[in-house]
Amino acid sequence: MRIWCSGNIGGFQPLVAGSTPAIRTSYHVQSERMPEPNPHDTASVGTTVWTEERRDWETADFTSLKDGSAFPKEFMWGVATASHQIEGGNINNWSAFEPRSKSQQLSGEACDHWNRRTEDVGLIKDLGVSHYRFSIEWSRVEPQQGKWNQDALQWYSDLVDDLLVQGIQPMATLHHFTQPLWWDEMGGFEREENITHWVQFSTKMFELLSDRVEWWCTINEPAVYASMGYVLGEFPPGVRSFKKTRLVSMNLMRAHARCYRTLKAMENGNRCQIGLVKNINLFDPYRRWNPLHWMQTKLLDGMFNRCWLKGLATGRFKPPSGLFSKRIDGLKGSSDFIGVNYYTHLLTTPFMPTKVEIDPLIRPWEQRTDFRYPMYAVGLRRAFDMVRNLNLPIIVTENGVADDDDDMRPEHIRRHLQITAEAIADGLDVRGFYHWSLMDNFEWAEGYDQRFGLYHVDFETKERTLKDSGKEYAAIVKAHSMPQLVVMAGGLGTRLGSMTENVPKSLIEVNGKPILSHILDWAKRQGCMHALVLTGHHGEQFDGMTHPGMGLTFHREDEPLGTGGALWNARELLEERFILVWGDDLHPIDYQPLMLQHSSQNAPLTMTVTETHSSSNLEHDGNVLLAYDKRTKDTSKLNGYEAGTSVIEKSTLLKHGKDGKWSWEETAYPALAGQAAVHVDNTKFWDMGTPEGLASLEKFLNETTL
Ligand code: GAL
Repeated sequence: MRIWCSGNIGGFQPLVAGSTPAIRTSYHVQSERMPEPNPHDTASVGTTVWTEERRDWETADFTSLKDGSAFPKEFMWGVATASHQIEGGNINNWSAFEPRSKSQQLSGEACDHWNRRTEDVGLIKDLGVSHYRFSIEWSRVEPQQGKWNQDALQWYSDLVDDLLVQGIQPMATLHHFTQPLWWDEMGGFEREENITHWVQFSTKMFELLSDRVEWWCTINEPAVYASMGYVLGEFPPGVRSFKKTRLVSMNLMRAHARCYRTLKAMENGNRCQIGLVKNINLFDPYRRWNPLHWMQTKLLDGMFNRCWLKGLATGRFKPPSGLFSKRIDGLKGSSDFIGVNYYTHLLTTPFMPTKVEIDPLIRPWEQRTDFRYPMYAVGLRRAFDMVRNLNLPIIVTENGVADDDDDMRPEHIRRHLQITAEAIADGLDVRGFYHWSLMDNFEWAEGYDQRFGLYHVDFETKERTLKDSGKEYAAIVKAHSMPQLVVMAGGLGTRLGSMTENVPKSLIEVNGKPILSHILDWAKRQGCMHALVLTGHHGEQFDGMTHPGMGLTFHREDEPLGTGGALWNARELLEERFILVWGDDLHPIDYQPLMLQHSSQNAPLTMTVTETHSSSNLEHDGNVLLAYDKRTKDTSKLNGYEAGTSVIEKSTLLKHGKDGKWSWEETAYPALAGQAAVHVDNTKFWDMGTPEGLASLEKFLNETTL
C-alpha cells in the first residue's frame, strides 16, 4: 500500500486511484484577500486563503515586467542552489542513502561546482542578478566531529569574495537536507542533544563569513525534511514513523531557534538578517462541495504549513500529527525574515491511493510540470497571504519548475513574478525573489531526471548552456536593474590647488572617506552593482581599491584626454547603456525615475537638469534639450543647468566620439540638441572640485545622513 506519491514539494500528495473524475467546468471562485496584518494576532498566522482563483493568463499583460516598472529598485533579484545538488563529491547522509533512493541515481560529481566555482560565479553574473543563495556543506567543513577542514572553509570564504567582487550579495543556508555521516550516525535531528553540534558548525561559519554575508537561512524546509525523511521515506533516513516525525520536527524547530539566538548574540548578529525557510505547499479540496475533501485538506494544511508558522509566531509548536503543543525556548519571533519556497498546490481527497503510480489530480485548465504537479502561480499569492501575519519581510527563497525542454519555464517565470509584483503593489512586504535553480542539478530522490535550471547542464561534459528561460529571467532582471556606473575620475583637479598635487581629486577625503566612496555609496544604494572608474592623474593610487558589494573596474588614461577622450579611450569596457557621473560631484538623486524617463523617451542620452542652480547653461522644454552652451554671454533664453548625472547609450558615444583630447559635454550636448532627453530634478549637487565646495559638502555630510 502506497499512501503518498513522490515529489519533494512536500510529499503530501494524496491520490485517488483510478481515472480522474470530471470537474464542473462552471466552477467559479471569487478572489478573497487576507485582512491587513495585526502584529498581536498570532492566531491568524498561517491562515489559509481558501479561495482558488482561476486566472486567465492568456490575456495577461506582462509589460511592466519588461519595461522595468513592476518592482522597486531595491528588490533582491536572485538565483538559488544547494551544496549537495551541485558541488559533487560529497559524502554525507544523502550520498549514503542514494543507492536506496527512488531513482537510485548517485549524486556523484553533480555539476562539479566544487571545481568550477569561478566559472559558475561568472554564470550568475551574466544573469545580472544581485543575490545568490547557496548552502554550506557541513560534511565538507567538519568531516569528522570537531575537525575543521581549512580548505573547505577557505573555499566558502573565496566563494563569498568572488560574489562580492561581482557586486552579488551572498545568502547562505546552514542546513539544506544534508548532514555529515558522523552526526547522522549519532541520530541527527532525532536526538535533541545533537542540536548543539549543528549550532557549533553554524557558529563557525558565522564567525568566518558574517563580516561579508548579511543574509542567512537557518534550516531549509523543515517540513519537507521531516515528511520526506520520516513519513514518506523518500529522503534519508527513509523511515516511516509518525512518532519520529514528531520528534524530528520538534528538534528542527528547537535547532532553528537555538541557531537564531546564538548567531544573533554574536558579533555582526545585529546587522545580519537570519531567517527560516518554509516551503508553502498549498492544499485544496478536489471537490469543493465535499466536506470530506475539506477535512483532509485542512488536516494536511495544518500539518504541513500552519503548525510550523504558528510555532514561529507563538513560540509553542505542535508537530505534525501531534496532539499537544510544547513551548520552545527562543522560538517566538526567531526570524528576521521569512523565506518562502513555493512550487504548487495539491488537490486533496480522503481516499488514499494504492501503490499505483498515478498523476496527482489537477484542474482541467492546469498544465502539468515534469514533476507532474501543476503550475499554479496564483498560489504564490496565497503563500504570501499565509505568512503575512508574521509581520516579517517576505523573501521568495525558491520558485521554479521542472521542465526538461524549457518550453514552460519562461511563462512560469513571468506568471510568478507578476503575482509577486501584484502582492508588492497591494502592500505586502516582499523583498526578493530567488529562482530555483541557477542550473540543472541533482534533484534528490528524482536524481538527474528533473531539470530545474536556468542553465542547461550536460552531466557528461559538465557544459553549461543558458536556456531561453535564463534569457527571459535575465531580461526582466535587467529591465529592473541599474546599468553600469561610469565615474570620471581622471581630471587633474587644478581648482583644488596643492591638495591634488599628490592625490587624485576623487581620493581626497571628505567626512572620513574619499569623495569616490561617497559617490559609490550613493550609486550602490540606487541599485548600481558595477562601476567603471576612469582614472588618469595619479591613477596608480586607485590600485587595490574595493567597495563592499560593488564590482569595480579601473581604466587609466596615459595622458590627459579630457572627458570625451577618456570615455572614448574606455569604450571597450563600456556597456550598451551606462550612467555617467563626475568623480568630484556628489549628486544624490533618485536614479529610477531618471532611468524610466530615459527608456520611455528612447533617448540617445538623458541628462539631469536643475532649475534652481545659481546659473544656467542650457535651454530645455521640460523633456528635451533645445540648446547647450556653457560659455555663452547671452543667457536670456537659458532655463536650466546640467547637474551631473546622465544616462548614455554607448551608440551615442560611438557616433560622436574621436581619438585625442576633447570635452564630452561641449561636443555631444550641442550636437544632441533636439534629441537628448532632459530629466528635471532640483536636488542639489555637491561640486567638490573647489576648496569651498569641499568645505560645504563636509558641513552637509556632518549634518545629514543620506
Ligand atoms: C525544494 C528544495 C530544493 C529543490 C526544489 C525543487 O523543496 O529545497 O532543494 O530540490 O525543491 O524540487
